[in-house]
Amino acid sequence: MFSHCELVLLILALTLDRQVHTGEIIGGKEAVPHSRPYMVILERKMGKDTKTCDGFLLNEEFVLTAAHCKAESYKVLLGVHNYHNQSGVQHVSVEQAFPHENYSQLAYLNDIMLLKLSSKAKFNKNVKGIALADEGDSLPKSCLVTGWGKTSDDNEYGSDVLMEVNVTLYEDKQCAESNWYCSEGINGPDRGDSGGPLVCEDGKAYGVVSFKSKSQERDDQPIYVFTKIPDYRSWINSTIEHHGKKVTTD
Ligand SMILES: *[C@@H]1O[C@H](CO)[C@@H](O)[C@H](O)[C@H]1NC(C)=O
Ligand SMILES: *[C@@H]1O[C@H](CO)[C@@H](O)[C@H](O)[C@H]1NC(C)=O
Ligand SMILES: *[C@@H]1O[C@H](CO)[C@@H](O)[C@H](O)[C@H]1NC(C)=O
Ligand SMILES: *[C@@H]1O[C@H](CO)[C@@H](O)[C@H](O)[C@H]1NC(C)=O
Repeated sequence: MFSHCELVLLILALTLDRQVHTGEIIGGKEAVPHSRPYMVILERKMGKDTKTCDGFLLNEEFVLTAAHCKAESYKVLLGVHNYHNQSGVQHVSVEQAFPHENYSQLAYLNDIMLLKLSSKAKFNKNVKGIALADEGDSLPKSCLVTGWGKTSDDNEYGSDVLMEVNVTLYEDKQCAESNWYCSEGINGPDRGDSGGPLVCEDGKAYGVVSFKSKSQERDDQPIYVFTKIPDYRSWINSTIEHHGKKVTTD
């Protein structure tokens, strides 16, 4: 277990300045190109700065990401494998952002945000949505994280190509009480991977990459924290129902 105080001190924002990038997610390997067609790069504008987060498509209209990825405006890149190869990539702007109303920047609680695209994503073999875990789905055994984040403690920037890494989830009282999934070990997401999905063996998204910390009780091992999607499923459902485009029949 780790105290809140310790968490606040050690939280590493997983967002990234998108500049030059080299190398992999820590401990992972390159994903087969377009094998994860729900993955999106989120370019976030704040004043003159552009930073990036990851996100994932739920349907043609909505992307799920982390609330700490909130910005003044966004561009969503769909169908990317290598950031420098724009062939077949769709650029879509965001009509409205829905960060969770109880997101807490200090405690990293409720770190989840829906983005409504200003025009529908065109689904094809490289661009598709992912199903979400629902309330009551239990903690899966084997899961992985994908992202364009930085790949070692030594390099400063993210990866050009989409990377993926297996993670080991563990049960923890504080994690459960905070609506988080937690994983441990040296392998996991890092800066630039924020907002990406934790995808488990049944092919559903169970979590959203939120932050990285260290646990004194676990020999200062890195701890990775994911917003637990099953706990937010009714919020996701109602936000999409209220703000999705209505099909008119007249
Ligand atoms: C760029 O991406 C397209 C679509 O995925 C792919 O067919 C092509 O081989 C890529 N080009 C290079 C130079 O990697
Ligand atoms: C936010 O917190 C308030 C007070 O605890 C609660 O009434 C409300 O339902 C929460 N909002 C959501 C979307 O969970
Ligand atoms: C994750 O584990 C599975 C099963 O052990 C293995 O086939 C796969 O290659 C691993 N993926 C990564 C990215 O290491
Ligand atoms: C959310 O919606 C999906 C399908 O639209 C449904 O299967 C699921 O039970 C809903 N979950 C909750 C918690 O409302």
